[in-house]
Amino acid sequence: MLIYLTGYMGSGKSKYGRIAAQYLGYDFIDLDRLISKKTGLSIYDYFGKLGEASFRRLEQDTLFNTVPLNNTIISTGGGTPCFGSNMQFMKNHGLTIYIKLKPAALVSRLKRSLHKRPVLTSQANNLLQFVEEHLKEREKYYMRSDFVIEGEGLTGEKLAGFIKEIG
Ligand code: S3P
Repeated sequence: MLIYLTGYMGSGKSKYGRIAAQYLGYDFIDLDRLISKKTGLSIYDYFGKLGEASFRRLEQDTLFNTVPLNNTIISTGGGTPCFGSNMQFMKNHGLTIYIKLKPAALVSRLKRSLHKRPVLTSQANNLLQFVEEHLKEREKYYMRSDFVIEGEGLTGEKLAGFIKEIG
């Protein structure tokens, strides 16, 4: 089984996904990490050098290459479900889970890692307002996920239990 975790930046897709995979004896993949490994560039540098459009093509390519995997939790980027046929692809090939958090909670988690997130770096001064608006645009994609799990109070162990129930 393939589990795709979706959600806004800072929702804990990688953090909880990695721990849940350990509980379940699954493999874990972080799409952004895979991209960085492939390119030898951090996501921040990739955006800076090659631009977002190029990143989105590579992101889709990397996503589509997850098909042959099995028993794997895949943490996607905050933008992954919002481009091209990515969301439909994930729904066709596995179960999708949206980790849902309110803008204020996201912002308090994101404050310390803005420098790693090219989409947010220029928004430091009005981060809450930006996240509120951006999440509104993106949530229609996230909400197409097969399942929604509350991100407040979530742990890797709870996520593993949830995956066991739905799997
Ligand atoms: C992005 C989210 C990031 C990363 C890139 C773009 C986005 O992943 O893919 O910086 O557009 O929301 P995280 O959600 O893991 O931060």
